[in-house]
Amino acid sequence: MDLKQIEQLYLHRQSCRAFSAEPVSDDLLREICRLASLAPSACNSQPWVMIAVTGEKAKAIASAVQDLGMNKFASDAPAFIAVVEGKSNLSAKVGSRFKNTDFMHNDIGILTAHLVLAADAAGLGTCILGWRNEKKLREILSLDDKTRIPHVVAVGYPAEGYETREKKRKPLEEIFTLVR
Ligand SMILES: Cc1cc2nc3c(=O)[nH]c(=O)nc-3n(C[C@H](O)[C@H](O)[C@H](O)COP(=O)(O)O)c2cc1C
Repeated sequence: MDLKQIEQLYLHRQSCRAFSAEPVSDDLLREICRLASLAPSACNSQPWVMIAVTGEKAKAIASAVQDLGMNKFASDAPAFIAVVEGKSNLSAKVGSRFKNTDFMHNDIGILTAHLVLAADAAGLGTCILGWRNEKKLREILSLDDKTRIPHVVAVGYPAEGYETREKKRKPLEEIFTLVR
């Protein structure tokens, strides 16, 4: 793997907002979650659980990310992966407290990044959905009312003809400095 290949993957991964009807196999959903679980986390705490949802339940998940008419395309996603808070280890909890940092949500963000890149490499399209109704999601997924669900990721094969967009990013001069 060289930088050119990584760049290709990063440029190719995009938020997919049009899915084909082709289902995603349970094995592939499991595999991209396995690959995502190789992500780093504070104190190797791995404070996450990934719940893959397909079939009728996926329709219910779609409705939980569409409040106020948002994310209409989610109705066509054949699968979703809910990225849910899991158990932190003691070191990460203590570290978060002393350093006044929410390691868990940092870790979950990094996991989700790994997940969407792995999915792209598998030929899948994804869209991270931060616009979600956590209460509805908890009900659908039978989670207790304290469990947070930072992201839901829509997963499916991109619709035919769905093109890779050019990335719109801040210029590097604006976001990068080198200090000696
Ligand atoms: C935490 C997070 C939440 C997001 N929530 C939504 C969402 O609810 N709906 C949506 O269409 N896109 C959502 N996105 C996708 C962003 O709009 C997208 O990543 C950004 O515009 C850059 O485009 P790209 O992913 O195609 O490179 C979300 C992305 C992140 C990281």
